[in-house]
Amino acid sequence: MSGSVVLFSVPMLPGVSTMPGYTVTVATGSQWFAGTDDYIYMTLVGTERSSERTLLDKPLYNDFERGAVDSYEISVGENLGDIELVKIEKKKYWMHDDWYCKYITVKTPSGDYLEFPCFRWIVDDKEVILRDGRARLPQDDKTRVAKQHRRKELEMRQKTFRWKEWHPGFPMSIDAQTHKELPRDIQFDSEKGVDFALNYSKAIENLCINQFMHMFQSSWGDFADFERIFVRIKNTISEYVMQHWKEDFMFGYQFLNGCNPVMIKKCTSIPSKFPVTHEMVSDCLERDLTLEEELKEGNLYIADYEIMDEVTPNSTDPCTLQFLAAPICLLYKNSQNKIMPIAIQLSQTPGEDSPIFLPSDDEYDWLLAKIWVRSADFHVHQTVTHLLRTHLISEVFGIAMYRQLPAVHPVYKLIVPHIRFTIAINTKAREQLICECGIFDKANGTGGGGHVELVQKAMKKFTYKSLCFPDGIKDRGMDSQKDLPYYFYRDDGIKVWDTVKSFVTDVVNIYYDSDETVQKDEEIQAFVKDICSFGMQDFDYCEFPKALQTREQLVEYLTVVIFTASAQHAAINFGQFDWCSWIPNAPPTMRKPPPTKKGEVDVKFIVESLPDRGRSCWHLGAVWALSQFQENELFLGMYPDEQFTEKSVKKAMETFQKNLSEVSKSIKSRNEGKKLPYYYFSPDRIPNSVAV
Ligand SMILES: *[C@@H]1O[C@H](CO)[C@@H](O)[C@H](O)[C@H]1NC(C)=O
Ligand SMILES: *[C@@H]1O[C@H](CO)[C@@H](O)[C@H](O)[C@H]1NC(C)=O
Ligand SMILES: *[C@@H]1O[C@H](CO)[C@@H](O)[C@H](O)[C@H]1NC(C)=O
Ligand SMILES: *[C@@H]1O[C@H](CO)[C@@H](O)[C@H](O)[C@H]1NC(C)=O
Ligand SMILES: [Fe+2]
Repeated sequence: MSGSVVLFSVPMLPGVSTMPGYTVTVATGSQWFAGTDDYIYMTLVGTERSSERTLLDKPLYNDFERGAVDSYEISVGENLGDIELVKIEKKKYWMHDDWYCKYITVKTPSGDYLEFPCFRWIVDDKEVILRDGRARLPQDDKTRVAKQHRRKELEMRQKTFRWKEWHPGFPMSIDAQTHKELPRDIQFDSEKGVDFALNYSKAIENLCINQFMHMFQSSWGDFADFERIFVRIKNTISEYVMQHWKEDFMFGYQFLNGCNPVMIKKCTSIPSKFPVTHEMVSDCLERDLTLEEELKEGNLYIADYEIMDEVTPNSTDPCTLQFLAAPICLLYKNSQNKIMPIAIQLSQTPGEDSPIFLPSDDEYDWLLAKIWVRSADFHVHQTVTHLLRTHLISEVFGIAMYRQLPAVHPVYKLIVPHIRFTIAINTKAREQLICECGIFDKANGTGGGGHVELVQKAMKKFTYKSLCFPDGIKDRGMDSQKDLPYYFYRDDGIKVWDTVKSFVTDVVNIYYDSDETVQKDEEIQAFVKDICSFGMQDFDYCEFPKALQTREQLVEYLTVVIFTASAQHAAINFGQFDWCSWIPNAPPTMRKPPPTKKGEVDVKFIVESLPDRGRSCWHLGAVWALSQFQENELFLGMYPDEQFTEKSVKKAMETFQKNLSEVSKSIKSRNEGKKLPYYYFSPDRIPNSVAV
């Protein structure tokens, strides 16, 4: 037999045997369990021919360890032509051992250097076929191999990423019951890190509120009593809130720069359902004008919680009935340009049983009316501003991306960092937080059904345009800086929006040379169509585009995707602890119905309306946990995974980062010396994606 081996090697004599090989370098991820002991095979597919399937193995060396960058030679008999694809196969060694491959580089015999971004898990016996890192639109691919690769990738993804309706009338979410069922690539790196239950007990431990849990259903004694669960916390803003929460300026300030700064609107006429008269509020007006004249001058604003009307409070627990209200609040811009509340009605129907509360009323009547507004604001913030308008919509963008854009598409590369862990966090939340018996229900007045009604109602007013930050501001009549100089949410938000938009414009212009290129990109058209027709359930009133005609429209669309997932979520998520931890400032539930008469309220009545000790503790734990950044958080514009290999894009990213740090600097200097700094839109505090 040995003779035949010798015979076989005869043709490999002089000349041919010196054909130099390819050097491939393989980078393994550095997260937990990224390494593998399985066998890894590689095949290089060239335009002329393919290499042999080669086992990557270095003798006496443990290949593919976590964080490793290993190089191998792949020898070839003849020239392969240009390398079109790299095929990686994993085969079981002992037990299946998942592997996270970051990227592969190939050095050709002629010294060319090719990059193949991977950034995915290779599980079981699955194979992965990679294209080189140059992003291409579908119409740029001419060869059969390339076209087929795109099609196959999408076919596979559409099998794994399926739409499912969580509740009727909601945006669609992923078809998976649990985090474990999700494709490995979109799961959290470690299950523990995001376990709400764990996190939750941790929070409660941290905040040292354990000792109160056993007194679950008892009321606090008075306001000072709330301070007892508060002492451990050192947070400048929440302490300031605790000291000033009763004051009108503090109440008014939160409409502009609190954690739900999206409810306030310019008031253009006093609605007939809220019959405030000049006589009622004349004490508050500072300009010697009538209410009508103040209105004409543009000094009146309004916050209407109409959406809360007839939402069912949860009343399963007969020991603690819970109540909701749908208040309306009239706001006045005083001569110092501060926003002050001047009238509050606690329902949508005026009448004897629904008096209009005024600052001139008895101290506790007025205070309780404001508390009711804060409680309604809390529910709308959690359910509409936060859950629907950032978490659920980002999930829609993410699912559509996986279903319609292959990894070689420039828009996939652009937005994949901005949907990282979003489907995972939402799945976790559906599993543990906002399900029946979830944490949400434990303390929220809208728990167990109410929040579902709220999302359903909010969906009917949820337009694409409202996600375009400048349009949203303008729609509420809040766009004039001269008119309202202290609306930092607006000023900072516009800066970040413009910066994101300028980056997106740079990237779009690299790949799309005309509007026609956009129209001809079938994949991007399928992406927006999927969002509108499936993600948003084809609700016409949402006005999500069904197709994109111009580069400008594409730029706006992608700016919406990135801005919503990063900046908008940060602005309304990370202030939760600052503004909601002082419970009387954001009661997650109310235990007495809204007052129907004036003059019957005292401190005791208010304390009995506020959440009991147990619910307060749950609440505090939740707002704490939800306001934490992750370990190794990736902030806006940080792209450690090099999905793009083109220099032009890397240059655009550098400009983006430079511009973002300018914005951070300007926000920092604006905040200097302020007792209430506004920093939620500061890019150095904005994570890239919705992940908490
Ligand atoms: C209240 O919440 C519980 C779960 O905590 C749920 O079973 C019940 O159906 C809810 N009640 C209403 C009226 O929604
Ligand atoms: C970002 O910076 C570049 C130059 O450094 C500039 O041309 C561009 O307009 C900036 N964009 C924004 C929105 O600041
Ligand atoms: C009510 O639900 C929201 C989550 O959407 C959470 O932030 C809040 O803390 C919850 N309240 C309690 C007491 O769990
Ligand atoms: C809580 O969650 C955050 C991110 O969601 C994570 O960074 C942190 O480690 C978690 N804490 C615990 C105790 O699990
Ligand atoms: Fe969030």
